[in-house]
Amino acid sequence: MSELSANSSPAALPQRLALRGDLLDFTATPRWGEVDSSAVRFRPDHWLLIEGERIAAIQPASEPLPAEWQAAPAHDHRGRLLMPGFIDTHVHSPQLDVIASYGSELLDWLETYTFPAEGRYADAEVARIGAALFCDSLLASGTTSAVVFPTVHKTSADALFAAAAQRGMRMIAGKVLMDRHAPDGLRDDVEQAERDCIELIERWHGKHRLAYAVTVRFAPTSTPRQLAMAGSLCAADPSLYMQTHVAENRAEVKWVAELFPEARSYLDVYARAGLLHPRSVLAHGIWLDANDRAALRDSGAQIAHSPSSNLFLGSGLFDWRATEAAGGAVSVATDVGGGTSLSMLRMLGDAYKVQAMQGERLTAWKGLHAATLGAAQALGLSDEIGSLAPGRLADICAWELAVGPVAERRLSVARSLHERVFAWTTLGDERNLAACYVAGRHSTPPPMPAAAAA
Ligand code: GUN
Ligand code: ZN
Repeated sequence: MSELSANSSPAALPQRLALRGDLLDFTATPRWGEVDSSAVRFRPDHWLLIEGERIAAIQPASEPLPAEWQAAPAHDHRGRLLMPGFIDTHVHSPQLDVIASYGSELLDWLETYTFPAEGRYADAEVARIGAALFCDSLLASGTTSAVVFPTVHKTSADALFAAAAQRGMRMIAGKVLMDRHAPDGLRDDVEQAERDCIELIERWHGKHRLAYAVTVRFAPTSTPRQLAMAGSLCAADPSLYMQTHVAENRAEVKWVAELFPEARSYLDVYARAGLLHPRSVLAHGIWLDANDRAALRDSGAQIAHSPSSNLFLGSGLFDWRATEAAGGAVSVATDVGGGTSLSMLRMLGDAYKVQAMQGERLTAWKGLHAATLGAAQALGLSDEIGSLAPGRLADICAWELAVGPVAERRLSVARSLHERVFAWTTLGDERNLAACYVAGRHSTPPPMPAAAAA
């Protein structure tokens, strides 16, 4: 924290930095199936000028730099893409410990692997080391903003917020709520959970680049009384986010119908508790019907589509097109550790395949938009993140379009911008990241704590 206060000293002169590269972002939502899209803003060989934490100006590299930037440090990313940092709208920080666990569907996977791993986060030191590794791994994948589940333990939420603040990252998170159907050590109760949420909201919500999300794990692990408490927190402060899972797996959907017979559907459990609103982020949404999609549209809530997790856990194929056609917002998420990578590029590769299995084709533009400007808009944060425009926070990644002989060969024969960018989103991953800037600062991971390095 001392580093934070030093950097935010009002007396310090704003730092200037100039980045040169091929700028790619979006000015609107690309249409389904359109590879020549007017929503794409591609500005080859431009300067992106940063002052302090924000983008100050953008200009063609052929024009002379303004006087103030002529002596400023310049990073030459010629031939690389400069893009807004990715936004991962659903990921579990403690689940790096269970990523790539063999052999089960959602409910069994939770019991066998996930709950035991999350139990270890009751320990503040485990939570601190885990949060540092998690945040550094996001940045190493080009993800500068994330909507994150820590664990049920207040200490794990504190550790996550502190790690994000230390790195200047935009993070939305909250202590997980679970007061039933979870093992000892992973259950809270309504009163204590409410006190913990209020304390965490006071400590972190709106501080640095952080926001609090009322975090219902999923309907089966909260009693109706706890869901009502979560709903009343959201009602008391509309600036709070809400995150949960919905309609991911068929056995889970059946269980929810047994637990909540009064609800019309799984999504309706949340709607009845006051948990569906414009700041709600619901992971998966595979097994929704037309009424649910209309409810999503009417509430302004978004689906965090998690293709890698859906394939890995065998959960099903998300109908992106129907959700969008119904007016629902769709962002993209890794859902690690159900998902098998923190790389949003890998997610886009998997998202394409999930659509292909349903006879649809996802353009690189739709995928990249959902991972940047689309997510920012759905989170109500498009004035801050998701695009390359003066005034936005300078969360910027420089990407190699191709790494290694196979990708290089493919790139060399690609004919159009979409073909090149699509090959990158399909073949690329964190190894393609050349540099990552968070709020104008080149992000270099802080040294590992001694205990983790040992
Ligand atoms: N549903 C409830 N908890 C989880 C979780 O940790 N991961 C996934 N993929 N689904 C969930
Ligand atoms: Zn999840």
